[in-house]
Amino acid sequence: MKAASALPVILGLPNCRSAISCDDPPAPAADEPLKVQASARGLLFGTAADRYLLESDSHYAETIASECSMITPENSMKWQSLQPTPDRYDFTHADWLLRFAEENGQQFHGHTLAWHYQMPDWFEENVDKSNAEASLLAHIETVVGRYAGRIRSWDVVNEAIEPEEGRDDRLRITPWFRRLGPDYIDLAYHAAAEADPDAYLVYNDYDIEYEGGYFEDRRRGVLDLLTGMVERGVPVHAFGIQSHLRGHHHPDFERLAAFLADVTDLGLDLMVTELDVRDHELPADPSERDCLVAATYQGYLDVVLDQPNLRSIAVWGMSDRYSWLQEFQPRDDGKPVRPLPLDAEMNRKPAWNAISNSLANA
Ligand code: XIL
Repeated sequence: MKAASALPVILGLPNCRSAISCDDPPAPAADEPLKVQASARGLLFGTAADRYLLESDSHYAETIASECSMITPENSMKWQSLQPTPDRYDFTHADWLLRFAEENGQQFHGHTLAWHYQMPDWFEENVDKSNAEASLLAHIETVVGRYAGRIRSWDVVNEAIEPEEGRDDRLRITPWFRRLGPDYIDLAYHAAAEADPDAYLVYNDYDIEYEGGYFEDRRRGVLDLLTGMVERGVPVHAFGIQSHLRGHHHPDFERLAAFLADVTDLGLDLMVTELDVRDHELPADPSERDCLVAATYQGYLDVVLDQPNLRSIAVWGMSDRYSWLQEFQPRDDGKPVRPLPLDAEMNRKPAWNAISNSLANA
């Protein structure tokens, strides 16, 4: 650790694992695209993307084609997008994105088949306890079946844990849960495996990375859920760690490492599925912010890359210009957020260098 003096002031703790001095942002370990550096470690490097950005910004499209070996649809494969009415599917944008990935030799990670959010408006009125199972199974059969052999992996169930609901099993009361109870989870995985027996099936969730009761509770919920699924023989192959990190938290991920070891003991793989670093509570100065964001990337990835069963690292967008956090977690001072590896002009940032360094250290 080099001259950490700038960090403790911000992070409040003197002892950070991979701190980077903010007077001296990291150089990258190599200049090759991240997909090349990841591939040297046997990993995929991916990003979220969608058609409207790739079509409207050719520089962004070229950058994603050269940097990434995997694409996750940011929105175009959610229920709202794929099934706009009860009996009509719209695959236009999903098909376009998959073709983009195929033309660029990229793998495709489907996202997502059962989630509580971004559901179509018709769902609440049209789906009740009597037809919910048929509706879930039909959607999964149609979508996974359509892309069988082309989409290699799927986030089947997304964000099923919410301890604040107060249930012993810490499950979230989702639209699916209200109609089908906890069984909706197993049903979804069995349906996906039936529609494409070769598909690699992931359970994806967030906020399991840090110390403290809130995160501990969420880890417990995820681990109990995965343990039950494995015991019941549910076809689940990996845990997707969304990895929406917080640049203002102390980057010590010891509890995370122990949790990942527990998941690994279940025989599951790991994927980093939606990595970005919130900077809304960091200082305004862009270079200081970039440096602190990079420190979080590196501290986190150093821990996750220690896991031998890690398959991929995906960021939730490559460029700050298009981060969902511009809207979802804006800064009070109105300055654009800088959570991703490339700045708004597609220049590599210290966060890009940090990913390169973590890959080199792995
Ligand atoms: C986000 C998208 O980035 C936004 O464009 C959309 O408005 C809301 O969803 N966890 C997930 C992702 O699993 O699907 C979310 O994506 C971010 C949080």
